[in-house]
Amino acid sequence: MSEPKIVILDDAPALYAHAAEEIAHFAGEAVCTHGEFTICLSGGTTPAATYDMLGSKFHFSIDWKEVQFFWGDERCVPPEDAASNYAMTLRTLLSKLTLKPSQVHRIHGERSPDEAARAYEDELRNHFGIGDGEFPRFDVMLLGLGDNSHTASLFPGSAAIHESERLALAVEVDDPTQRHRVTVTPPVINNAARVMFLVAGAAKAQAVWNILKGPRDVDKFPAQVVVPDHGEVIWLLDKAAASLLT
Ligand code: 6PG
Repeated sequence: MSEPKIVILDDAPALYAHAAEEIAHFAGEAVCTHGEFTICLSGGTTPAATYDMLGSKFHFSIDWKEVQFFWGDERCVPPEDAASNYAMTLRTLLSKLTLKPSQVHRIHGERSPDEAARAYEDELRNHFGIGDGEFPRFDVMLLGLGDNSHTASLFPGSAAIHESERLALAVEVDDPTQRHRVTVTPPVINNAARVMFLVAGAAKAQAVWNILKGPRDVDKFPAQVVVPDHGEVIWLLDKAAASLLT
């Protein structure tokens, strides 16, 4: 794996805009080279402004009919729940686009966690035309970073960090508001052509240092598990999140 590319922007608005620009660029590249753009979206709050810009400022920069939307994790709540990562994406981006339902591959948080995970695995296998032992290769895998160094819903101490066969797992995490989640697994993340971390704010500075400069300990710092076999990792940080990096 090549060294991660680290891009530090002055502030969060600049980070969000740069992320939208990069995604639009990679979308164009993917559609030109293989006729579609598969993106695995992150949840939480950080990406919302970038998604909003993709649907507005960059609306006409992307051939949206060739984009396939997936999610890296979802909370086990109904799709209209405010905590749903799908709901956040619908509000900020999908509602501004004209898409065929077949382009949107959400994780069904309203189902039981294990059912939702297995259904999502089927969705991934069907779209990417893969069989047992194979993994989807996303053009872009967006990831956030929790202040406890988790990414997707791979939380410290979780057995999911060491999963090597499943594509998606139901997990119970140490987040009192959203304990039950479905997450993609490390082999799915690490098969992506490009992983893009979006991290903003001083509260994430220690976690950023842990992942990039700290001792190797994936159980303590799960985002360290992101080491794509044949892909690049780009860290998009604002100055506050990068403040502990020399
Ligand atoms: C989720 C995300 C999660 C998120 C980090 C950062 O479902 O919450 O997928 O991995 O990216 O927790 O969240 P914020 O962007 O809200 O800080």
